[in-house]
Amino acid sequence: MPKTLEEYTKDELIEIIKNLKRRKKFGLVWEDKPEEIVRQVEAELPVIEEVPERAIEKLKDAPTNFVIEGDNYHSLSVLNYTHTGKVDVIYADPPYNTGSNTWVYNNRIVDSNDTYRHSKWLTFMRERLTLAKQLLKETGIITVTIDDYELFTLGMLMDEIFGEENKVGVLAVENNPRGRTANRFYATSHEYYVVYAKNAKLATISNLPLTEEQKKVFKYEDEISPYRMRGMRKSGADSRRKDRPKQFYPIYINPETLQGSLEKHDSWDEILPIDNTGSERVWIIGTERCKEFLEDGTIIINKAKSGSGYSLFVKDRIKAGRKARTVWVDPRYDTSSHGATLLLKMFGEKVFDYPKSLWAVRDFLYTAAGENKEALILDFFAGSGTTGHAVLELNKEDGGKRQFILCTNNENGIAENVTYPRVKNVIDGYSKYEGIKSNLRYFKTALVSKQQTDDQTRIELVARSTDMICLREDTFEEVFDSKAYRIFKNDNHYSAIVFEPMAIQFLKETLDKLDDEKPAHIYVFSLSNDTYESDFADLERTHELRPIPESILEVYRRIHENQNVRLGA
Ligand SMILES: C[S@@+](CC[C@H](N)C(=O)[O-])C[C@H]1O[C@@H](n2cnc3c(N)ncnc32)[C@H](O)[C@@H]1O
Repeated sequence: MPKTLEEYTKDELIEIIKNLKRRKKFGLVWEDKPEEIVRQVEAELPVIEEVPERAIEKLKDAPTNFVIEGDNYHSLSVLNYTHTGKVDVIYADPPYNTGSNTWVYNNRIVDSNDTYRHSKWLTFMRERLTLAKQLLKETGIITVTIDDYELFTLGMLMDEIFGEENKVGVLAVENNPRGRTANRFYATSHEYYVVYAKNAKLATISNLPLTEEQKKVFKYEDEISPYRMRGMRKSGADSRRKDRPKQFYPIYINPETLQGSLEKHDSWDEILPIDNTGSERVWIIGTERCKEFLEDGTIIINKAKSGSGYSLFVKDRIKAGRKARTVWVDPRYDTSSHGATLLLKMFGEKVFDYPKSLWAVRDFLYTAAGENKEALILDFFAGSGTTGHAVLELNKEDGGKRQFILCTNNENGIAENVTYPRVKNVIDGYSKYEGIKSNLRYFKTALVSKQQTDDQTRIELVARSTDMICLREDTFEEVFDSKAYRIFKNDNHYSAIVFEPMAIQFLKETLDKLDDEKPAHIYVFSLSNDTYESDFADLERTHELRPIPESILEVYRRIHENQNVRLGA
């Protein structure tokens, strides 16, 4: 029989409490006090508002990219309405919580004297990663970059949110080849990319393309793959006839057509692997593979440059891609020369301290979404916008239509003064850099305050939800604008917002007059959950009806409920 509490001595109870405290240290310890930004969303509803003068339209028939300025808890909440299950890859480069006075939590800088700094960081990350997970497709991949300050906590957090079984890999990327010499023990020269899948059973990681070095070496290419020419006669160790007698055999060559065969033909020349000094060597392959290679053209036969005899080569192939390893070392991954210096060239002055190497991000995105040229890529700690730049570079390389969403706050003016101008420069071109044509829209997060009554809140939310709906539908071309309803379109469909149900009849008439058959997604304001289906029964155009703001509120309610469960409220 276990003892009751009263039966324990004071010393025994102290020992139990000590044990419990010790045990707690092995798990994740959350910050008890909720973050203000997170609490705010209980009283106010996040929306986005476009800054129209920042829109860039440079490429027809291509998707629009988005920058959303504001706290990412708010932008991720909005994206939970607009982009649930739509994102292929998430790249997140959060503050590393090094204690070096760069990270602000609840309006206060978190420094190394803050004993709760790990718990604060964990809670901050948990809230955002939980929202981000909902945005991933079932085949989606997420990476969070980190260094050794929070590597272990991040690993446990990712296991908790995404599941240990969905861990895809932990990459070590050499981002600072010189090493941080100020470090007391080892000079840190790398950081980590902690990679998880939404569902590892469905996820794929693409091989990386050849490096520049490999391209130089494997400089020939046929319809199968790139290759280099390897001499058919072996040299060096084990190349004498007595070392490998089976690889000493004649090859017969037609002097007219330069065709080769292992079978003797009259008037064909017999060639043996004999070197310039007259020593008997061997071929690099045995007879079976030689026969196959002669037939399929893998062996190339030329007349020798000296004029007499022949030179024989084998096409030494390399697969078009190489499986990415977990250790990434390449001078192009140096954040100093391919991050900071790149920004310096673009802006003429130092504008941001922590940009990633463009090529490290590009290569990561390639492994996570390389085969998918229409991938949607999200970065919710976008900083200077390296991810957007990398997505455009990938599109430039293969004509892809990948699309990005960058979310960043405006800490020290970064969104306005760095993220936006950088992406604009990459699209428009700057200095000698020829731009990569694309489209962009810029939004800011905003909050709709809860009004005196629920109905008033609903009216206010709908009045300010147009940009959110356009983002969700990817329809930005305005077709019709009245006080009571608005219509937008893209190449594939229309989206319509009806602010006053009394206007349904007029909307239908306007839709009827449009001379194409694109379907319409219609958002109808309703104080209840009514979609006014019967009112639309006679609309001939294919259509889907969605009640607002109920469909938005539903998403926000789900977010709050899950969050309350996490906070134990
Ligand atoms: C480490 S930097 C990312 C740098 C980026 N990868 C690049 O290459 O430029 C993190 C960025 O996240 C932003 N940030 C920090 N907390 C945020 C939050 N709660 N919401 C949105 N952005 C945030 C900071 O302003 C900072 O620019």
